[in-house]
Amino acid sequence: MKKIVELISEDLKQAFALKGYDEKYGAVTVSNRPDLCQYQCNGAMAAAKVYKKAPIMIAQEVVSALQENSKIKNIVAIMPGFININLSDEFLATYINSMREEKDFGCEKEAAPKKVIIDYGGPNIAKPLHVGHMRSAIIGESLKRILKFMGNDAIGDVHLGDWGTPMGLVIAELKRRKPDMIYFDESFSGEYPTEAPFTISELEDIYPTASAYSKENPAFLEEAKRITYLMQNGHRGYMALWKHMQEVSVTDLKKIYDNLNVSFELWKMESDAQPYVTDMVEYLKSNNYARISDGALVVDVKEETDTKEIPPFMILKSDGATLYSTTDLATIVERVKLFDPDHMIYITDKRQELHFERLFRCAKKTKLVKEDTNLQFIGFGTMNGKDGKPFKTRDGGVLRLEHLIKMVTDEVYRKVMENRSMDEEEARQVASKVGLAALKYGDLSNQAAKDYVFDLERFTSFEGNTGPYILYTIVRIKSILDKFYDTGKAISNDSDILPAASGVERELMLQITRFSDMIHLAYEEQAPHRICQYIYDLADKFSSFYHDTKIISEENSEERQASLILMITLVQDILLTCIDLLAFEAPDRM
Ligand code: ARG
Repeated sequence: MKKIVELISEDLKQAFALKGYDEKYGAVTVSNRPDLCQYQCNGAMAAAKVYKKAPIMIAQEVVSALQENSKIKNIVAIMPGFININLSDEFLATYINSMREEKDFGCEKEAAPKKVIIDYGGPNIAKPLHVGHMRSAIIGESLKRILKFMGNDAIGDVHLGDWGTPMGLVIAELKRRKPDMIYFDESFSGEYPTEAPFTISELEDIYPTASAYSKENPAFLEEAKRITYLMQNGHRGYMALWKHMQEVSVTDLKKIYDNLNVSFELWKMESDAQPYVTDMVEYLKSNNYARISDGALVVDVKEETDTKEIPPFMILKSDGATLYSTTDLATIVERVKLFDPDHMIYITDKRQELHFERLFRCAKKTKLVKEDTNLQFIGFGTMNGKDGKPFKTRDGGVLRLEHLIKMVTDEVYRKVMENRSMDEEEARQVASKVGLAALKYGDLSNQAAKDYVFDLERFTSFEGNTGPYILYTIVRIKSILDKFYDTGKAISNDSDILPAASGVERELMLQITRFSDMIHLAYEEQAPHRICQYIYDLADKFSSFYHDTKIISEENSEERQASLILMITLVQDILLTCIDLLAFEAPDRM
């Protein structure tokens, strides 16, 4: 279904052409002065220069050609040459009724759908998740849903970190604690136990200890590196421990992501790319893409236009060990082989930007991807505390994701219990949904690249630009609808939404019609915050409308009653679709 700006632009273009001007000047936009008009066209100003005429003259001519247009209530030329447009209420109502009937509210999908791999989440095995991983998961999940909504084949890959020194550190620490474990008996050749020798909480306790210890103890770090190397090269006992770490971590991570309403099509790991490394290195060498520098194998990726120093991309360290960069390049090889994607998106903290810039240059230069494969990095900013510094726990430690989630849900729980009578269990369920919305909306309503301040009080407020406010609007509509249907009333199939009966109603209707504009913008800019902006406005317009309008009333004619019910149902459906794109859900009550 065409957008209103497109439909009105077509008419304006015709009018420009009719009056002897190039039709391109007829482009219409949403008004930036909503107090004056709903839509505007500034084409007469540009045309004036070309046709050497006063802009107001051109505007007046065009306006005169559109006086009988049924979509338009009034159209006027304003000095120095603006064209201000208000739509007719009949047209607005007809448009909204079509939105109601069409799938996805008539939103037109991507004309050339792409296969997109989206690499987000990126947790590391044996290490607790922190806030950075949370942002990646929240933003990635929403972007993936937007891509899918627009008709693309989007494949999310959690891309677990399971191949680096942290593995060696954990194993070295285990060895220090329990040297007698069978995994460390070099002469053992039997089957290792299927049960892991640690739980997830033990595992998460081991890593920080090991990491801290390695900083004071160089010999321990060396040992961890040696173990990493041996593990990567097939040491049986270390590999068995590493497999245990994978299992224990993945089970735990699946639960965490489930609670976050985040899900991945692929649970690939860094280690999955390792089988591709040998051939890739061979390919890079034999095609002279790689060179030896201080014993290491590197690919030069700097370009003449660079204004800053871009170091070569390292493929193998001088001791032959692989690194993060090797794994990422081999993962590209793997993805091309298994999926042949048109587009790959990576979502991490923006501090990794240079790594990805060099990775992409390397992949393109060495022709490991096709020239037209779109490789894209989306870097996000930091979640800060109110002091403007990265959010920390009270004792100054790195905040763990579960604790953050608990903090938010506890606060929502407190608020829910404060104003309402609800049994404990229901309140807990409500708090977990509303808490997640508070956290996600607080994050997604900002441009991803920007830092933002985590403000518990504001994020969990039921008023203002917050997740809970959006959910509150949905719940409120639901309760009105329940009230209506509970009386045994029904809406007949041939009912329609009628032209607006008041200013607030018209405002609400205009906002509804802008759904597709908003989705297309969110898609083009890869910007979930556009959705947040839109639903906040929609919820706000609904609220004014609700305040002024008797939705269920004996005074309403049957037709008018049906129209109102259909309208608020549509608002609810749009809100639900939007929060699904942001990946949170609404409770039944709150
Ligand atoms: N595991 C990494 C980290 O914690 C993020 C991985 C991002 N994805 C990638 N393909 N490099 O920083």
